[in-house]
Amino acid sequence: MRILWSKEVQHRHHEDFPDRVLYLTLCGEHALDIHQLVEDGVVKLLESGAVDLVNSPKVVAFEKNSPAAFAVKRAFPGLDVRELDIHDALRLAKPLVIPDGPDKKAFEAAVVNLDYDGAMRIKDGQIQPIRAVSKIASLQALKKKDWSLLLTLNASVNWSLDDQLIERNFLAGASADVPEVVDCLRAKSEVVDCFDEDCDLASLDDLELLQTFQSMLITARVAEAVCSHGWVPTPLGAYIYGGHDSRAPMLSFIFRMNYSNDAHRKVPSTVSECLREMLKVLQSLVTLDQAQQP
Ligand SMILES: C[S@@+](CC[C@H](N)C(=O)[O-])C[C@H]1O[C@@H](n2cnc3c(N)ncnc32)[C@H](O)[C@@H]1O
Repeated sequence: MRILWSKEVQHRHHEDFPDRVLYLTLCGEHALDIHQLVEDGVVKLLESGAVDLVNSPKVVAFEKNSPAAFAVKRAFPGLDVRELDIHDALRLAKPLVIPDGPDKKAFEAAVVNLDYDGAMRIKDGQIQPIRAVSKIASLQALKKKDWSLLLTLNASVNWSLDDQLIERNFLAGASADVPEVVDCLRAKSEVVDCFDEDCDLASLDDLELLQTFQSMLITARVAEAVCSHGWVPTPLGAYIYGGHDSRAPMLSFIFRMNYSNDAHRKVPSTVSECLREMLKVLQSLVTLDQAQQP
C-alpha cells in the first residue's frame, strides 16, 4: 500500500506549487509511509539523520498518541509532527470555523493520507472520517488546486440499527441508477442481503461481504461530501484486506480530486459515476493479501 501511496505523492510532487504542503499523514508510531518516501528519494535526510528541510518537500504528520508522536519526532528530527487529534485541528465540531493558519495550510496538502486504524464512529448521525473528508474538501476548495485523498478505514461496524438504516438507505438511494452495485453485493452472497432491514451489519460473519458493502457506501459518501464542495472524485484504486486470522477487515482507497465550478449542481450524477468507476476498480481488484502487499 505504501508503495502505491508513494507513487501518488510522486505524481503530485511534479506539480508546480512550491509553497504547498506535499503530504499530510497520520503517521503512527513507525511512520512507515514516511520511511517509504525517504526510500523513494522524495523526503531527503541529512547525514545526521535529520530531515533535509531545504531539499525536501513539506510533509506534515498528525498523531494523537503522544508516545507515537514522540517516537516519530525522534526518528525524523525536523519533521513537522503535530501531537494533535486531526479532527480537533480541523475544528470538525464547528463546520463554519476555518482552522488556524498552520493547520489550514496542512489541510491544503496535495496528498492527504487519512490512514485511520480504529473502527469508523458515527457521531451526530455522521461517519466521522467522512465528516473530516468533507471539511478538508471545503478547505481545499478555497485554493481550487487538485489533490489526492488516500483513505484507509476499518470496515467493522458497531453502529446502532438506526444508524445502519440511515447508511443503508443512503446507499440504496445513491445506487438507484447503478443497479450493478446491488448485483455485485448479491453475487457475493446468496444468503445475506445487506439492503434488507433485518440485516445487522454489526453481526455479519461474512467479512468480505461487509467490506464490499462498506466500499460502496464509503465511495458514495466520499463522492457526495467532496462534490458538494466543487470536487469531482476519480477512484484510482481500492484495496480490501484483512478480515481473517484475527486481522481487522480493512479498506483502502485512492481518489484524485479535480475542481469543477458546477460540480455541486451535479451531485447525484457524480455519485453514480463514482460508484460505477469504483465497481470497475473493485472488479480488477487483487486483494493485498493475495498480492502479498505490493
Ligand atoms: C494506521 S496508523 C498510521 C500508520 C502510518 N501511516 C504508516 O504508514 O506507518 C494510524 C495512526 O493514526 C493515529 N490516529 C487515528 N486517528 C487519529 C486522529 N483523529 N488524529 C490523529 N491521529 C490519529 C493513531 O493513533 C495511529 O497511530
